[in-house]
Amino acid sequence: MEKTKIIMDVDTGIDDAIAICLALGSGAFDVLGITTTFGNRKVDVTTKNTLKILELIGKTNIPVSKGAAKPIVKEYFSPEKSIVHGADGLGDMENPLPEPTIKETGMSAVEFMAKTLAESDEPVTIVPVGPMTNVATLLMTSPELKPKIKEVVVMGGSMLKGNASPVAEANIKQDPEAAYILLHSGVKIRMACLDATWNGYVSFDELEDWKTDNKLSRIFYQMCGIYSEHYKLRMKNPGLAMHDSMTLAWIARPELVKSEDYYVTVDIDGRYTYGMTVTDVNRVTGEKPNVTMSTDVDRVPFINMIKEAIARLSSEMK
Ligand code: RIB
Ligand code: CA
Repeated sequence: MEKTKIIMDVDTGIDDAIAICLALGSGAFDVLGITTTFGNRKVDVTTKNTLKILELIGKTNIPVSKGAAKPIVKEYFSPEKSIVHGADGLGDMENPLPEPTIKETGMSAVEFMAKTLAESDEPVTIVPVGPMTNVATLLMTSPELKPKIKEVVVMGGSMLKGNASPVAEANIKQDPEAAYILLHSGVKIRMACLDATWNGYVSFDELEDWKTDNKLSRIFYQMCGIYSEHYKLRMKNPGLAMHDSMTLAWIARPELVKSEDYYVTVDIDGRYTYGMTVTDVNRVTGEKPNVTMSTDVDRVPFINMIKEAIARLSSEMK
């Protein structure tokens, strides 16, 4: 299978960690590197969590470069403990993953992205699954590299309900100006938004299987305690949304995700709607569509992709 060259941009948290495993366990991707950003937790924490996950699954050759500590314009507020990902960003497990022994590259996320794009012999897909600050900064500082970006497949946004405010999705709400820059950059964008990712869930019963499937699934089972509670008690969702993994499944198996091309922008100055993705579903603006928005997902094969990737990585773990 022809592997898609990608750079993942993460704010590792729990669903980011699972997405990293899907990227590295599916066989569909040539992961050129992973860059990190603030988001679910502070960037030092999301970077350390990314290194922990790579070391856990034995993929210590994947370069990790630390990125933005704050949004482009506003300040970053990080609660002491995320109600979704825990204080440590990986579910505050009783037996947390060990401190990483592998190190970051020492380059910034944007330096790594620019260098990798410049040196690649073919255009690269960028997969942001946190606030889009790094990719927006890249687009502002190195616009000449746009032809080396095959597409940006981002987890973010929603056409209806929000999760970080009544109308705004978390990754965009954390840096709406960055999302605005990306959406109006002219690069090809697919947006795995909440309208689909909420349907891309591991059911609470399916999660129980993770307890006994294999060594790695058992670790994720333990990691998902807080995450599961959030979806069961607060979101009243039928399962744990695998938001970030949907970007990768969409690239590897496009038939799994339904989508529509729309004109989408971001509200960057609304009092109640700051960070809302405004989607011209009825095409009333006359603006040309600039985003392919996900509208639904074929849930079972999507979740099976994740399970299979975790099982493959688990079989390779020492
Ligand atoms: O809204 C969901 C997104 O916010 C996911 O990327 C999750 O990891 C959090 O960052
Ligand atoms: Ca994320």
